[in-house]
Amino acid sequence: MSQHRPRSKTSISGGAHTTRAHDSAHKHVTGSADYIDDMPEPEGTLHGYLGLSDRAHAKITSLDLDPVRASDGVVLVLTGADVPGVNDISPSGRNDEPVLAENEVLFHGQPVFAVIARTRDQARRAARKAKIGYEDLAHVTDVRDAIDAGYPHVTDPLKLERGDVAAGLAAAPRRLKGAIRIGGQDHFYLEGHIAMAIPGEDDEVTVWSSTQHPSEVQHMVAHALGTVSNAVTVQVRRMGGGFGGKETQSNQFAAIAAIAAKKLNRAVKIRPDRDDDMTITGKRHDFVADYDVGFDDSGVIQALDATFAARCGFSSDLSGPVTDRALFHADNCYFYENVRLVSKPMMTNTVSNTAFRGFGGPQGMLGGERVIEEVAYALGRDPLEIRKANFYGGPGRDLTPYHQTVNDNIIARVVEELEVSTDYQARRAEIIDFNETSPVVRRGIALTPVKFGISFTATWYNQAGALVHVYQDGSIHLNHGGTEMGQGLNTKVAQVLAEEFQVDLDTIRITATTTGKVPNTSATAASSGTDLNGMAAANAAQQIKTRLIGFASEKFGVPPEQVEFIPNHVRVGNELFPFPDFIKLAYQGRIQLSAAGFYKTPDIHWDRAKGKGRPFYYYAYGAAVSEVSVDTLTGEYQVDRVDVLHDVGRSLNPALDIGQIEGAFVQGMGWLTTEELWWDDKGRLRTHAPSTYKIPLASDRPRIFNVRLADWSENREPTVRRSKAVGEPPFMLPISVLEALGMAVASIADYRISPRLDAPATPERVLMAVERLKAMAEPLDEAG
Ligand code: MTE
Ligand code: MOS
Repeated sequence: MSQHRPRSKTSISGGAHTTRAHDSAHKHVTGSADYIDDMPEPEGTLHGYLGLSDRAHAKITSLDLDPVRASDGVVLVLTGADVPGVNDISPSGRNDEPVLAENEVLFHGQPVFAVIARTRDQARRAARKAKIGYEDLAHVTDVRDAIDAGYPHVTDPLKLERGDVAAGLAAAPRRLKGAIRIGGQDHFYLEGHIAMAIPGEDDEVTVWSSTQHPSEVQHMVAHALGTVSNAVTVQVRRMGGGFGGKETQSNQFAAIAAIAAKKLNRAVKIRPDRDDDMTITGKRHDFVADYDVGFDDSGVIQALDATFAARCGFSSDLSGPVTDRALFHADNCYFYENVRLVSKPMMTNTVSNTAFRGFGGPQGMLGGERVIEEVAYALGRDPLEIRKANFYGGPGRDLTPYHQTVNDNIIARVVEELEVSTDYQARRAEIIDFNETSPVVRRGIALTPVKFGISFTATWYNQAGALVHVYQDGSIHLNHGGTEMGQGLNTKVAQVLAEEFQVDLDTIRITATTTGKVPNTSATAASSGTDLNGMAAANAAQQIKTRLIGFASEKFGVPPEQVEFIPNHVRVGNELFPFPDFIKLAYQGRIQLSAAGFYKTPDIHWDRAKGKGRPFYYYAYGAAVSEVSVDTLTGEYQVDRVDVLHDVGRSLNPALDIGQIEGAFVQGMGWLTTEELWWDDKGRLRTHAPSTYKIPLASDRPRIFNVRLADWSENREPTVRRSKAVGEPPFMLPISVLEALGMAVASIADYRISPRLDAPATPERVLMAVERLKAMAEPLDEAG
């Protein structure tokens, strides 16, 4: 037989599991990638700007917009009353988020009107000229204050419960209580929000939007215009970063641009400047977690009772699923025999908080890791020992607080490999020695694990579509429902398709995401872009291949098993056709060379009322060791070394995956160290520009930064080529940085007192913790 096997290249270029550069990498670095603001503007395009409230909570008593209308170049001024459909863009369906506020404002910076002018500069200047009269009402910005003031929940709280918490706490040999404050985070995407609406015939409109969720923008624009979805087309080529900040927050800009475009029959573009973008759009939720934990002398947790209260802002937005996900991750890798976790999604007079990488998971996980740290300090042990003592294990120790069995647990192996390969034990001993004699600089090291659940907890979101066309020359056009925001989704999905057809990657072109090609899509979020859209694209390819196989088998009179897709060729019996030649034949044979693919994640379900189900298809795991040094006189610190071992199953593209891990780590480090959001007593966000809001700089990166993939891992579920999602899970690895800072601080009191660093652990906060421990250590020392 083998002499009949036609010769060909043994593999395609750029298939699954190979390193390939991001398809736009060269365009990103040369500045030639087109973002919406780079697109040619239709003749006569007008520009919008938003007029914002300057009160945190007030009744609007008068609204004089005549000076705005009289301003140079102004063509139109819009208020909530001018919204032709429903003045609402709430993604939760609670009708609690107006496009433009009417009668009452609920946060400082809330959009009250929009001005459309010939130039962006004219619109921006005009927006300042409004005279708004207010009657101030009481406001709160802080989570605890909101609870004390009896503010409402923006959505229904969730409770997860298993076992008997009261009995577990009462029976535990040891018990402690505490709280941690966890700060929010601005997305700081490089490309800010933007929308350009181009009116069409009748009620039609096309909107270019920088959004992770084109279908929702489509629905919201239709809702605000008072029309139906088939009149609205939303398109996205790429975003300059989204990070969750463009999952719902694009709706407002798109809706206003579309309303103005239809009213004026002109194209309208809206792009707020950075300060306004940071003021108007939601951020990561800040949390206060209160915990009461019972444990034994070996550090095994016997009962945990914890409440996670979140600053949700003025409306529900995604606060329900975000606070739910916080509870889903409060266990991280640990089995709690008796547990009760409760969320408090608090309304506050601040911008409505939203999705941000990890979607509440990081805040929940940090709460859980704080409990571990507390137990360790109470017992005078290395937190790593306490972690290991509490890891999920076999039957009897494998049930989560939401009653899902952890059946793919590899955390013990990941941690063990990292501990050994980084020489963790010896380094920790050396650091303790160092701290004993070092008067000013103190060092710390910590190893923390991550387990992150993959799937949208809104089960119906776990579906995707793709549209694949094979043209007569053998070139392939791919469109799927996901959006590209820098994460490399398009490259990965194209690799999956290349693998299916056995053609080189450059045979495939991915085009802009559009609601006109793939409908009813989910947000590109929850890290599931590749899992869902990759499978949908593969499904489309399989449909076309099935037709091609049937065609060839009939035409050449060979059994279907003898039609085979091999690198850049199709073998039919003993004949070998280059892929384009075969496609030409199929076209002439009148075979449909186009297919719409579909995928839905199997085996997941979730009953929120009962707090039970299998919300996650699988878990992604990882661990990091971080080492820091702290100047105890100033609180300044640096991250000396980080080692990561992370699980992405069978990587579809190791370079892209490592890039995601590095990026997520640094972004997570920013959240836990330097990025601080600060509201003043008038409810104004005072950190709304890079001058006051500090994202990590190149100089803040870990001095040594080693990232490895757990290359032995394979998804036990039949996901796309046995890979695992990577976008969010590594965001939580830098909890190790926060804990290493804690260890350096704790050295002040000989590691006898839990450092209790809140996040972000800014140098000020580290210094305050040092001072607090110094004061607490003195009486301890006297007591001997
Ligand atoms: N990477 C880049 N470069 N830019 C981004 O905006 N967003 C993150 C992550 N990685 C983001 C990113 C978030 S919040 C998510 S949910 C995932 O990418 C979404 O894409 P995926 O599902 O294709 O991984
Ligand atoms: Mo990511 S927070 O799910 O967009």
